Amino acid sequence: MCGIVGYIGSKDLGAVILVGLEKLEYRGYDSAGIAVIHNGRLVVKKRSGRIGDLYKLVNGMAFNGKAGIGHTRWATHGGVNDINAHPHVDCKSQIAVSHNGIIENFQELKLELEKSGHKFVSETDSEVIPHLIEEYYEGSLFDAVLKAVKRLQGSFALVILSSMEPDRIIGVKMGSPLIIGVGKDEMLLSSDQMPLLSHTKDVVVLNDGEICVLTQNSWSVYDFDGNPKQKYITKIDWTVDMAEKGEFSHFMLKEIFEQPEVLRRNLEYYIRGNEVTLLKDFNLRRLLLNKDRILIQASGTSMHAGLVGKYLLEKLARIQTDVDYSSEFRYREPVLGQNTLVIAISQSGETADTLAGVKLVKENGFEVLSIVNVKDSSIARESDYVLYINAGPEIGVASTKAYTAQILILFLLSLEVGLLRGFVSEEDFSRMRDELFELPGKINDVLCESGYVKEVATRFLDAKHFVFLGRGINYPTALEGALKLKEVSYVHATGYAAGEMKHGPLALVDKDLPVVFVNPKTSVYEKSLNNIEEVRARGGIIISVASSGDLKMEMLSDYVFKMPEVNELLTPLVSIIPLQLFAYNVAVGRGCDVDRPRNLAKSVTVE
Ligand code: G6P
Repeated sequence: MCGIVGYIGSKDLGAVILVGLEKLEYRGYDSAGIAVIHNGRLVVKKRSGRIGDLYKLVNGMAFNGKAGIGHTRWATHGGVNDINAHPHVDCKSQIAVSHNGIIENFQELKLELEKSGHKFVSETDSEVIPHLIEEYYEGSLFDAVLKAVKRLQGSFALVILSSMEPDRIIGVKMGSPLIIGVGKDEMLLSSDQMPLLSHTKDVVVLNDGEICVLTQNSWSVYDFDGNPKQKYITKIDWTVDMAEKGEFSHFMLKEIFEQPEVLRRNLEYYIRGNEVTLLKDFNLRRLLLNKDRILIQASGTSMHAGLVGKYLLEKLARIQTDVDYSSEFRYREPVLGQNTLVIAISQSGETADTLAGVKLVKENGFEVLSIVNVKDSSIARESDYVLYINAGPEIGVASTKAYTAQILILFLLSLEVGLLRGFVSEEDFSRMRDELFELPGKINDVLCESGYVKEVATRFLDAKHFVFLGRGINYPTALEGALKLKEVSYVHATGYAAGEMKHGPLALVDKDLPVVFVNPKTSVYEKSLNNIEEVRARGGIIISVASSGDLKMEMLSDYVFKMPEVNELLTPLVSIIPLQLFAYNVAVGRGCDVDRPRNLAKSVTVE
């Protein structure tokens, strides 16, 4: 994970890099640092803690050089302390490197470099890089970097600065993301688009095996043999205010409230009159119509969206669908074949396990469809076909709006394939299309009840454990509700299929255990009522998500989060909303750092 940034231009160096790091802080936030040119020398300021702590260390210092780099860390090798923070430097403090990724052969390189007299100060894998460049330096930073990167194994995105050549910064991409921002009289490098937005909309996305050299007015890209590569500028379609909190106290809350708008945007984009236009690419359409099995691989919340997708694809398109964690999928020799389509789901498009899953499928000669939020991200570029979820930047580490947008795309995909395969009638299609357009309003109704959700959350700030239960298409909602709570409030929560409760979780129930039942009106509604009775009989506290006007659920529950009645297949898009709000409010009430939960990061670009 980690975020890296580089700048060359005439603006206030320290400020540009620190603000850039703030935008990347969601990628890692245990330490941060900058290296800048000042009076012709390298000045490095770094420390453990948040970017706010780094601000204090830099203390508004004015640097008179034009180039600088920065790093925000999520520790992999070496503990969290000032010395292990990046950027790392060579023996003479003339070369500084910010690294995102893992250098797998660092032990061996370190031994070799130590034998040649290099002195290491940190426990990180990354420190070998500036020493390796130093070892190869013979008057050209570019040539030294070319030699050094050929020795590195693992995944890395690097931003490199040297006081010996202060008129340039060099970037390297292999496995981890790196983007050039092409400005007017200034150039930038960054792990993602966010720090670039306030400087330029013109970007060049690097591919694996590419090195770029930036000066104040030029950019050029090469392969690892030093041959120039032709690259094109593309435009970012996100705006600065999309990445701001606005009136909300946290990004997570802003993103929860953005969901009606994100869904509306996607509906208007993908539904034209009587048609869903997701499969307008003829080849993708043919691909989907010729498959009889789908295998979805994803991580975290995206995997839960995939689980909802299983219900949708099986019900509407009648295609057998399996869902796997990417971290499992990639290592277990999955059975792939001509009749199976692999779908990867990822908000960031950078999750290392999901990306590796995509590469595995490609290596086996099969095509991949991905469902992604971030345009031009690694997963989007590696896949044969991409469906974008158009959720805008998601900054809160706990995913919310991307989850519902992913489910919506899976719904539309299932609907379109179902229609094309003849499992969905024109009549059903029109009815569901109308129901879809009513969804944003219905989600708004649930959001209007956020005050009540907060009130309930306040009563459970000291609860030690929660169980979340759901059935059928809301079983994934239970998993996702539990994950949200764990992630942001550090309270233990387990999600379970309600029907499985008597095979284990029932033993946990006592008068102190809150059990959250997701039980809107669906075909399995009555079944879940029995499970609720079983918990009540054992004295558990019942919080439920239920359809408005459902008196039975009201009688059985201690607290009810009400949701409007919707088509069963759309319930996961609504039932998750109060659970997102609940997790948010428990976390705020417990004083947790909601947008940056401890030990987590938004983009998990390491295994
Ligand atoms: C991290 C994030 C989660 C996210 C997961 C998968 O764990 O904290 O919010 O669901 O990665 O990320 P992706 O970008 O692939 O959806």
